[in-house]
Amino acid sequence: MNLNDSRILLTGAGSGIGRSLALQLGKKGANLALFGRNVAKLNEIAFEIRAHGGKASAFVFDMTDSSGQDGIVQEVIQSMGGIDILINNAGIAGFCEFSNQNPDDIERLIRTNITGPILLTRAVLPHLVRKNSGRIVNVGSTFGSIGFGHFSVYSATKFAMRGFSESLRRELDHTGVGVTYVAPRATRTALNEDAVVELNRRTGIAMDDADDVAGWIIEAIEAEAKDYYIGWPEKFFARLNGIFPRLVDNALKKNNRIARGLVKHAN
Ligand SMILES: NC(=O)c1ccc[n+]([C@@H]2O[C@H](COP(=O)([O-])OP(=O)(O)OC[C@H]3O[C@@H](n4cnc5c(N)ncnc54)[C@H](OP(=O)(O)O)[C@@H]3O)[C@@H](O)[C@H]2O)c1
Repeated sequence: MNLNDSRILLTGAGSGIGRSLALQLGKKGANLALFGRNVAKLNEIAFEIRAHGGKASAFVFDMTDSSGQDGIVQEVIQSMGGIDILINNAGIAGFCEFSNQNPDDIERLIRTNITGPILLTRAVLPHLVRKNSGRIVNVGSTFGSIGFGHFSVYSATKFAMRGFSESLRRELDHTGVGVTYVAPRATRTALNEDAVVELNRRTGIAMDDADDVAGWIIEAIEAEAKDYYIGWPEKFFARLNGIFPRLVDNALKKNNRIARGLVKHAN
């Protein structure tokens, strides 16, 4: 898939992986609708993209909103003349003991990470199906294939994102619209609070740079990949967990013990 002149709606464009994606896609000649809640951050990125000859505009939208998706998608279509790719990247995490997790935080996590992307996809999809081309790109996680203790709700949202991607891809197999599911492993962004960075350090879990992860996501889109798992041994364990979950239970016991110690200080 050639990204030059492609029209891309990117959520979570204001920071981390989304910011890197925006800047790299801008350099590839894409026309970008940058979604997020913080207009100042989005405008700054749009300005940087335009300063390098690219095309980008900011759109303020909260992924937890239960309505408004159709309206903002129409605005984007009018502004860019259409949409070719939707990248569902916005997300939040939650490192805690499940029984202590506040119901409002649980609701926010589910709305941001899965209900929001599903509703936005529902708003964009008829446009792609009508022109019989385009791609939905869903950013999941290693935690969408391996349930990690102390990330129960976050893992649940990413498992849901993987299931949604697979189902939708099969549903659309008679159309020209593709679905790519990308699963990054731990990445150095604001998503990971200090306790998670410490957990990764103590358990030897590698953390990637957001710029590298953005580059791999772009590779996945250009290759029109169906599923794209980032990092070794994470991509191996993601598959192993599907076949021999008891082996992975044992492998994660040490992580769980360290997480139990760290989570008390984090919450
Ligand atoms: N970092 C990792 O270790 C890691 C690993 C695997 C997968 N991922 C996934 O990668 C994606 C990007 O995460 P990141 O690491 O780049 O995190 P990040 O730096 O915290 O960025 C998350 C983005 O999501 C946006 N966002 C959060 N809540 C929102 C809401 N209610 N409405 C609209 N936008 C919202 C934020 O925008 P505003 O706050 O400006 O609105 C922000 O730009 C997420 O889906 C995450 O689950 C991350």
